[in-house]
Amino acid sequence: MTLVTVKELTDKAYQNGYAIGAFSVASTEMINGAIQAAERTNAPIILQIAEVRLKQTPLHIIGPAMVQAAKEAAVPIAVHLDHGLTEPVIKQALELGFTSVMFDGSMFPIEENIAKSQKISRMARQYSASFEAEIGKVGGSEDGSEDIEAQLTALHEAKLFLNQVDVDVLAVAIGNSHGFYKSTTQIRFDHLEILQQALQYPFVLHGGSGLTEQDFHVAIEQGVAKINVATSTFHAALQKVKELEPMQDYYELHNALIDGSAENVEKHIHMFRSAGRVQYV
Ligand code: 13P
Repeated sequence: MTLVTVKELTDKAYQNGYAIGAFSVASTEMINGAIQAAERTNAPIILQIAEVRLKQTPLHIIGPAMVQAAKEAAVPIAVHLDHGLTEPVIKQALELGFTSVMFDGSMFPIEENIAKSQKISRMARQYSASFEAEIGKVGGSEDGSEDIEAQLTALHEAKLFLNQVDVDVLAVAIGNSHGFYKSTTQIRFDHLEILQQALQYPFVLHGGSGLTEQDFHVAIEQGVAKINVATSTFHAALQKVKELEPMQDYYELHNALIDGSAENVEKHIHMFRSAGRVQYV
């Protein structure tokens, strides 16, 4: 159907009370699985990969596959660089046709995050791409290599940021973490409500794995329009492979990776209320 920008999808989602799933992929099997799920449910989705994952799956190989698969899909799909960290990699993604990039400057003081984000935002606009940034700190790290301590998004910093940076969706930190959650983890929906009431902006919720359907619905009611999911799709694909042991044929493995990914993506599309939303795009 169409390769679209994240903004085209999230603006509609924000206005209509649902969220777009941003599903991390690491292989053509995972791309196929995510797209199969989106087509089965008639849902727009975002395919994404984070910069830290490119050491396993190089951008110049997976990037063109993501963009081409999105172009050929029967539903609107955006292709996004998740947690962009360095300018050359973000530029490479834009050159490959990604329709959205994130710059993660959450490790810098706010003034530095603003200055760096302004530069990347201008670059994204040259390619007519969407731009996502993060204020505060989401806990953990995308690939589990670092144990970053969560730090709530400060309202005054978010206001300062939105006044100075041309950004389409804002990743907020409300006690959410990458990876599966410990049972004691508390998501601060009260803080999300404060941020949404003051800013009236489409937010991104990172760390979708381990949250419940109820959590997602509360988040959507408080202006979350994009929800990132990675760990639970990797886990679902792995579980599907384990169920098949012992395997006789390589393509049993191939199909299990597709099916496991598709099942997890489909489950989240329903929880995000984005099934059947193609007509809104
Ligand atoms: P999970 O691995 O917790 O689903 O988080 C994904 C994410 O936020 C990617 O940026």
